[in-house]
Amino acid sequence: MSDLLDEIESFLMRQDMSPTRFGREFVGDPQFVFDLREGREPRRDTREKVIAAMAAFVPEAVAKPLRLGIAGLGTVGGALVGMLQTCADDLVRKHGRRIEVVAVAARSRSRQRGFDVSRYEWHDNPVDLAKSRNIDLFVELIGGEDGPAYAAVRAALEAGKPVVTANKALLAKHGVELAALAEQRGAYIGFEAAVAGGIPVIKTLREGLGAAKVTRVYGIMNGTCNYILTRMGNEGISFPDCLRDAQALGYAEADPTFDVGGFDTAHKLAILTALCFGCEIAADEIFVEGIESISQADIKVARDLGYKIKLLGIAQHNPDGIEQRVHPTLVPESSAIARVDHVLNAVSLETDHINELMLAGPGAGGSATAASVLADILDIARGHNVPPLGAPVAELTPYRRAPMRTHEGGYYIRLNIRDVPGALASVTTRLSEAGISLESVIQRPDVQVAAETGETGPTRTVILITHETMEASVRAALAKVTDDGFTSGAPQVIRIENF
Ligand SMILES: NC(=O)c1ccc[n+]([C@@H]2O[C@H](COP(=O)([O-])OP(=O)(O)OC[C@H]3O[C@@H](n4cnc5c(N)ncnc54)[C@H](OP(=O)(O)O)[C@@H]3O)[C@@H](O)[C@H]2O)c1
Repeated sequence: MSDLLDEIESFLMRQDMSPTRFGREFVGDPQFVFDLREGREPRRDTREKVIAAMAAFVPEAVAKPLRLGIAGLGTVGGALVGMLQTCADDLVRKHGRRIEVVAVAARSRSRQRGFDVSRYEWHDNPVDLAKSRNIDLFVELIGGEDGPAYAAVRAALEAGKPVVTANKALLAKHGVELAALAEQRGAYIGFEAAVAGGIPVIKTLREGLGAAKVTRVYGIMNGTCNYILTRMGNEGISFPDCLRDAQALGYAEADPTFDVGGFDTAHKLAILTALCFGCEIAADEIFVEGIESISQADIKVARDLGYKIKLLGIAQHNPDGIEQRVHPTLVPESSAIARVDHVLNAVSLETDHINELMLAGPGAGGSATAASVLADILDIARGHNVPPLGAPVAELTPYRRAPMRTHEGGYYIRLNIRDVPGALASVTTRLSEAGISLESVIQRPDVQVAAETGETGPTRTVILITHETMEASVRAALAKVTDDGFTSGAPQVIRIENF
């Protein structure tokens, strides 16, 4: 038999299809069936038709449209519906399958959304939508760690339906439980959009790294904080003024605590840590400090020393376990992460085989986030199914927290020291007693920070930069410095990372 006849035979076997049906429905040339029965090489024109039909063939299971139910039609949900309407035909061409929104849920049915909601089956309750027999895939874009988002995602997985969500709060709290449920029911849960919005970091970690092992992950994962710190650095504006602008521009919520307090970054870091180190998600075990106390003095001194201040989420193995921390960080101005400004996000993966890999891009916004949601949807449309957390849940190790007091690194310490004889000497003695050596001591009249309310005498702002030391030593020394009474107010401590 010729190579072509071999190829046709194995193709028909793979598709479990009779030669007659293939000839009639897909090749459109009855002569082909005779040729095949006789084991005869088809004529040239028939050959060409057969080859083209095999190349264009889309298996029936895959060719059926994938029917979506979308719960949440706000910033991300609305952008997703718009995207699916404008690129529906492109998606069929590129991915061989039509993606159709068939049903939706939101709070208000009458709200104007820029598309006609009446085209879709409406559900007041997202759980009913998740259970609907009319959908193949449930997309959760409501938000919140519990409540309707959690109930609906569980309901979809219970019914064996795949789920796509952008909800980091939900995953940070229930990720392991939901991944286990997905495994049990043979379903898939995609959450590319939950970490760093439009940046495909989850897929990179789950599927792109091959055998490379991550040794440390760090990143800028909150656009609001990055926007505020960038403007404070570029324009000399105070934190409260920058925050007000960010709120006016829609980059920050009316209650900004979740973003500027570092909690949003912590949720994303917890998810990344599990994927990087094969452990359970442990969002409650993260050391978190926000950016609220960063002053213009800190920004200026950092710049003069060759650093920028960024809010980073960092996770790494150390001898005691896994260290997860979120805090403002001095990073060298020349480092790649320092150049990620404004609302952009970046995640850097340090690995054994491919050294450092940094992914940067839009961390939020309707269309960037919807693009990541759609990438997960397309994976499901192609029948993709990998363990949601990179490994089966039974193989995840329990999270072992490395206490923050064992963290080692350089420190920036800003103190308001009373202007009395011996005050600075007393501070440096306390640090030296704790085994901390100083790289520099900076006193500049132009970076004077206002003394605490109630302070009676004059104070001077002094900045100390330490060599590498341990967090426990810094805390112990600063407790003694405070007790000695030569300083006013709480010390400002910012950790330094020399990436
Ligand atoms: N926005 C971003 O840039 C971004 C980036 C990354 C990840 N995410 C995540 O994406 C998810 C959605 O965020 P978003 O910014 O699109 O939120 P959003 O604009 O506030 O939209 C939330 C949607 O959920 C609906 N909803 C709220 N409660 C509901 C309930 N009980 N039942 C049914 N529907 C309900 C709302 O309905 P109504 O419209 O009727 O009020 C609204 O359509 C969140 O998990 C968020 O963390 C967002």
